[in-house]
Amino acid sequence: MADTNEPNLIDSGFYQQADKFFMAQSGLALTYDDVTLATRYSEILPRDTNLNTSLTDNLRLNLPIISADMDTVTESAMAIAMALNGGLGLIHYNMSEKAQLKEVGRVKNHVHGLIQDPITVSPDQMVGEVVDMMEERKFAFSTFPVMDSSGRLAGLLSGSVVKPRYAHRTVIDAMIVRDQVHAINQKELDPDPIAVADQFFTDHPGINKLLVVDDEDHLHGLFTMSDVERIAQEKQAQFKPTRDAEFRLLCGAAISATRNAFGEIDRESIREHVDALMDRGLDVVAVSTAHGHTKGVGETVRVIRDAHPSLPIIAGNVTSAEGVEFLAECGANTIKVGQGPGSICTTRIVAGVGVPQLTALYVASRAAREAGVTIIADGGIAKSGDIVKALTLADSVICGSLFAGCAEAPGQIMEISGKLYKQYRGMGSLAAMKAGSAARYGHQKAGNNKVAAEGVEALKEVSGSVDQVLTQLIGGIQSGMGYLGSANLGDLQKQARYIRISSAGQREAGAHDVIEMKAGGS
Ligand code: XMP
Repeated sequence: MADTNEPNLIDSGFYQQADKFFMAQSGLALTYDDVTLATRYSEILPRDTNLNTSLTDNLRLNLPIISADMDTVTESAMAIAMALNGGLGLIHYNMSEKAQLKEVGRVKNHVHGLIQDPITVSPDQMVGEVVDMMEERKFAFSTFPVMDSSGRLAGLLSGSVVKPRYAHRTVIDAMIVRDQVHAINQKELDPDPIAVADQFFTDHPGINKLLVVDDEDHLHGLFTMSDVERIAQEKQAQFKPTRDAEFRLLCGAAISATRNAFGEIDRESIREHVDALMDRGLDVVAVSTAHGHTKGVGETVRVIRDAHPSLPIIAGNVTSAEGVEFLAECGANTIKVGQGPGSICTTRIVAGVGVPQLTALYVASRAAREAGVTIIADGGIAKSGDIVKALTLADSVICGSLFAGCAEAPGQIMEISGKLYKQYRGMGSLAAMKAGSAARYGHQKAGNNKVAAEGVEALKEVSGSVDQVLTQLIGGIQSGMGYLGSANLGDLQKQARYIRISSAGQREAGAHDVIEMKAGGS
């Protein structure tokens, strides 16, 4: 990074550093689309930029992007995909504690390339039922292990027979029988499961599935040759997976400020819950609520901090300097900033409260610097340019809407008028609160419609895989860094110069006065 000349007075009069710019706007709250970043002298090519971020000493990401702890965004599949790309997923808490532990366990035990819970069928099912299930659930694969009633491997139903033509046959009649199915004992996978699977496929031309079993012939997973080949290519990828010291993928999970029957913070259950998550290998816990500058959230953070002095704690959400200071004092390492910017949020409409995101980030970032903590920009990110703007002030971003249409997000794909969608709902929507997230908004569990919703239920168009979405986002972030002559995120913060834009300027920013034939990236 090098700004070779003395600052040009004309430039500095228009394009201002964060302190000067935001202080001059005090009294007016701005968000991403209200400002643009000025270009700076650059010797940096986008592809040479480094996106590493350190949220705390023992929580470092290779990509500053986190998937939101929402029940239509992050469960194990999303968290695995995020960590494989260098980011992080926060498993939501709209499920039982037992289910959340299982999701964390899946991420921490994930062997890249091994499908841990393949969809199985039973010998007495009809092939027609399997065909229907595939169509209904829009599976992109058609080979199914066949399990008998005692949970042992009975055979393999190959994609070549999962066809309407064989609908009237039973699975047992159409499957490859156990003796002829290629399977390996899980004990034989160490120390490098992918290398073992890779060698197997080389040694067995024409075979593209390998099942993993234990001594009792219970199924423990499935390798496919295409996955194994893709992983071999990924080894050259620029963004390395985020891993712990034992080479397992990083995983975060959210918890709420749980209260007991007397309305007090339930210290014991919070402690036990976090202990259990840590037993599964959890790397970071997020105390995730709509209003983090509260006694309850502060107490929850303190309980966790006292029990686990070195566990990274994310807490929020706040939009004020006092809120950041408060959570930092309670023991949080990184603070989530954002009240009402989310695509599915209606907090500002319902409660009349919240601050447009860029101003909130500026305020929080200055307090965080004083308090020695980091901040995460949570919500309102609709395009890669928003991420670049957010990272001029924050250490990382949380995205919900951008990932909700991905194959890895929970929920089924639905077809409406020929287009494919997935459900995306606010954690403060009535449906999500009924499913358990009411505590996040300071309500009792929503058993009826009397709770005021602060979010909507919506749809997202299906958007491919997390890899595809992240490729677009990363490309945009790296371009932004190239324009600002920034080799890393620290440089980006130093190099950022802001100017407000008019609504005509905003219109000018998108494609205009043309008939768009193909939409651009994110
Ligand atoms: P995006 O814009 O990425 O925002 O979809 C995701 C973030 O929005 C927050 N969130 C909510 N905020 N009501 C709110 O006011 C809600 O129902 C709601 N649900 C999620 C949350 O911070 C998330 O990360």
